[in-house]
Amino acid sequence: MVALDGPSGTGKTTVARKLAAKLGAGYLDTGAMYRLVTLAVLRAGVDPEDAAAVAALARELEVSVGTDPARPRARLAGEDVGDEIRTARVDAAVSAVSAVPAVREVLVAGQRRIIEHVLDTAGGIVVDGRDIGTVVVPDAPLKVFLTASAAVRAARRSAQDTAAGRSADPATVLASVERRDQLDSTRATSPLRPADDAVVFDTSELSVEQVLVALSELASQRGLLG
Ligand code: DC
Repeated sequence: MVALDGPSGTGKTTVARKLAAKLGAGYLDTGAMYRLVTLAVLRAGVDPEDAAAVAALARELEVSVGTDPARPRARLAGEDVGDEIRTARVDAAVSAVSAVPAVREVLVAGQRRIIEHVLDTAGGIVVDGRDIGTVVVPDAPLKVFLTASAAVRAARRSAQDTAAGRSADPATVLASVERRDQLDSTRATSPLRPADDAVVFDTSELSVEQVLVALSELASQRGLLG
């Protein structure tokens, strides 16, 4: 079990999926779960800032994420919404939704169930998130926290958006990245921060391959190689 936390644009998701494939492990994208709830909130016309209404909706939702690192699907009541959860509209609302304690309660319980199931069946899992090492699995045998400067993270995010065919003005992306970091790091419930025993990597100057090599070595040292 590897807990991989950090803000967006650090290469975390790419690295997590590649590491899972390399270890022969499953992969869980917890950010996709917060995005699924956010999409449902927006579709229902609920105000993302209305914590009580968001909590009520989250308790009835059927969100489902796949754990295959090659094809991590995201579904809302059976509908594949993998692309729709990555839009700027969801980006703008996801921090408010993920700050609602009831949303975190429901999703963390779901995450623990998925992790337990994958550990029982596949033997290993790489979990990608913000609070995996601090809250979801505080006894994870390997905790990694990836960071990078805001400018580098915004540049990576805009390249991703462009590649996916979404418009991506770099200045707007940077503002959105900085706003989301600020909200995620200062929220009262499970703020984004490295666990005391996490290995912190600054990926500003590193390629995905370099980060992957470093993490594979750490996983190997801790006996986590598949
Ligand atoms: O990793 P991502 O960008 O897809 O995450 C989307 C949002 O979800 C992010 O702004 C913070 C929130 N999130 C969270 O609060 N806790 C997690 N474990 C994962 C994501």
